[in-house]
Amino acid sequence: MNKDYKLATLAVRSGYEADSTGAATMPIYPSTAFHFDSADHAANLFDLKEFGNIYSRLTNPTMDAVAARVNALDEGVGALAVSSGQAAITIALTNIVKQHEHILSVSTLYGGTHSLFSNTFKHYGIDVTFINPELSEEEILSYAKDNTKAIYAETIGNPLMNVLDIDKLSSVAKKIGVPFILDNTLATPALFRAKDHGVNIVLYSATKYLGGHGNALGGIIVDLGNFSWNNGKFPELTEPDPSYHGIQYWDTFGSLAFIIKARVGVLRDVGSALSPFNAWIIAMGIETLPLRMKKHCENALGLAQFLESHPQVTYVSYPGLASSPYHKLAKRYLPNGASGMLAFGIKGGSNAGKSFINKVELANLVANLGDNRTIVTHPASTTHRQLTEQQQIDAGVSPDMIRVSVGIEDLEDLITDFSLGLDQE
Ligand SMILES: Cc1ncc(COP(=O)(O)O)c(C=O)c1O
Repeated sequence: MNKDYKLATLAVRSGYEADSTGAATMPIYPSTAFHFDSADHAANLFDLKEFGNIYSRLTNPTMDAVAARVNALDEGVGALAVSSGQAAITIALTNIVKQHEHILSVSTLYGGTHSLFSNTFKHYGIDVTFINPELSEEEILSYAKDNTKAIYAETIGNPLMNVLDIDKLSSVAKKIGVPFILDNTLATPALFRAKDHGVNIVLYSATKYLGGHGNALGGIIVDLGNFSWNNGKFPELTEPDPSYHGIQYWDTFGSLAFIIKARVGVLRDVGSALSPFNAWIIAMGIETLPLRMKKHCENALGLAQFLESHPQVTYVSYPGLASSPYHKLAKRYLPNGASGMLAFGIKGGSNAGKSFINKVELANLVANLGDNRTIVTHPASTTHRQLTEQQQIDAGVSPDMIRVSVGIEDLEDLITDFSLGLDQE
């Protein structure tokens, strides 16, 4: 694909060129295994001397087409599609972090990621320090350890809607010689260009805006190919891998080392492969990503402005609002729009929050975000329920908080619906 194509063109055109059937749009390949031409061909594929399809836990043309599409949008060197956002995070991190090693993460994370880090990773001996992203670069650096292997963050924290100072974190990562791994789910490649800000690995829950229709789980890992893994800290990529015939990923594949090991090592072993059907659904969703993100951003700003002027509303967190403490950062990092997520508080605390959720008619009460349909949630009792009270506070979750994933419906209808929810009658 021509590298000069812009985002909307790449969203529609990348990842698939007519196959041998001539099918004009991306087909689904629901095949578990693929024919080898000969015994030698099979051996070469297994030895990674040749690339090709073997078995759909490792490679599948539809799974690879959706990965290639996101890779094109982020201008990566290679991408891997997996079964969910959580699988993407787990595979990306365990690809380079093991027992007795450390990850430096921001505290403003999706609740499921916080839980993965503080429970499952802890259980496997991986230590995660959660830092307040507002700390200065020097303060953050003081939390780095000799065994720190990655800096981890989300572009826009959920549900605080804090836009991160990405350049500050990438500078920390550079100084300590570790990759900066960013969950860009809420911003998507349509709003945030990770490659321009020192990010090394980008992750997505494709379940959200990439797919965009609330109908398929998936995750994507994109390797931006801009980290030198041969700095002595990543022996898993530079020394022979006994689990794969002693292959040395960095020597053999250079800038593709990380993403190839993630596929042939971790994904092969843990098996969280994306189904071809879900891959296809997500790939179709991506075709309209730039259009949808524009509308999500416009609606979110309009709804945030309406809420900000409503007497029953105590605060509105939306980085696109001039009143947001993150507005300056949003203008710097998200010049085309601050995404479709906002949060607000209602006078009357938790009970008023629950009453709002029960009264709205159009907005759905479901545990998801990034759907075409507007969704309202009460994080304290749902997405962040497993966290302790202190962890909830650190993640910016207050008891009266309503989180809104603003859809692409008509803004007037959303305002009517939210007025109904806020009505005290
Ligand atoms: C920012 C973010 N990252 C990751 C995930 C996990 O994604 P999935 O549900 O696809 O596993 C979510 C889910 O809500 C999320 O909001």
